[in-house]
Amino acid sequence: MKDQIRQIEQEALKEIASAGLSMDALEALRVKYLGRKGTVTELFKTMALLPPDEKPGIGVLINALKSTVTSALDGRIAGAARSGEEADRVDVTLPGIAGKPGRIHPVTQTINQICSVFISLGFKIVEGPEIETERYNFEALNIPLEHPSRDAFDTFYLKSSEKYLLRSHTSPVQARFMEKNKPPFSIIVPGKVYRPDATDASHSFMFHQIEGLAVSDSIRFSDLKGVLEIFAKQLFGKETKMRFRPSFFPFTEPSAEVDISCILCSNQRLPPAKQGAGQAEAGSQKRCSLCGGKGWIEILGAGMVNPKVFKNVGYDPEKVTGFAFGMGVERIAILKYGIPDIRLFFENDVRFLKQF
Ligand code: DAH
Repeated sequence: MKDQIRQIEQEALKEIASAGLSMDALEALRVKYLGRKGTVTELFKTMALLPPDEKPGIGVLINALKSTVTSALDGRIAGAARSGEEADRVDVTLPGIAGKPGRIHPVTQTINQICSVFISLGFKIVEGPEIETERYNFEALNIPLEHPSRDAFDTFYLKSSEKYLLRSHTSPVQARFMEKNKPPFSIIVPGKVYRPDATDASHSFMFHQIEGLAVSDSIRFSDLKGVLEIFAKQLFGKETKMRFRPSFFPFTEPSAEVDISCILCSNQRLPPAKQGAGQAEAGSQKRCSLCGGKGWIEILGAGMVNPKVFKNVGYDPEKVTGFAFGMGVERIAILKYGIPDIRLFFENDVRFLKQF
């Protein structure tokens, strides 16, 4: 019996040692040796069969076996519990996981830049609704019923009613503002506009515009030129030249399209030796990829407010004059940063956005 007890002890200690720190394996061993039907318990039961004089000696041995196995198991179980805790514990000395700071979207940055130039000239920012009525998007602006932009093909009309549409330009805010305010004032209107154009590198069904409007009793075309010249120089550089080409918009008379000297081939950023309008490089035969060899790029439409528009909003065209202009924000950003595709602005690709 003594030998049997010693053998059981050795086996138990070996098994406990090889159970590692697995809680399940250790619990199985506790049941095997110390459970109600476990080896040690069974040993105590066999004691009853022993002659009375052997009982105390063997009892001491079995008790010793029980406490050896118990303390070996307890030690292991405590170790297993500790290693589980360690896995959960936070090491406060480790460097933290830094959150990536967000940044302002390049379109918003461009809007902010443009607006701040005009704010410095005394303009106020005004906004208007993206869901418009035909009256503000077209009629008040002297755009007649037969104008192509009034075709459902060229404007998003809201299905639920024929009255509402997604504004196709920011110009309707001109009429909204004038109806509620008296001159003199000068405002700029940044915002989203919508056109059902097929999406490609230079078209998007949604983009941003900034509208400008200044009205008083004595605004002249030269005021428009002066304001836009300051704007172009601040945005594209001191050396930037400007030119006005006669054009047509129903809401201005006269109207102009405004170009700036090409920022790639006629630009101050190139060393003087490389500046040569229209050429990819001075003396080269290749045409500039941005202006196509013209040396000029169009940036906005403008003009003197058509007296009919004044009449439509309740002003006396004999008493007030004003200028208006409208530009595409993405187009300005594309030119300024050399972005090849308008879709990049709207794909939310962080690799693109984090460059600005
Ligand atoms: N609304 C015009 C467009 O979307 C842009 C424009 C041109 C606005 C001339 C104006 C302007 O205020 O005077 O094409």
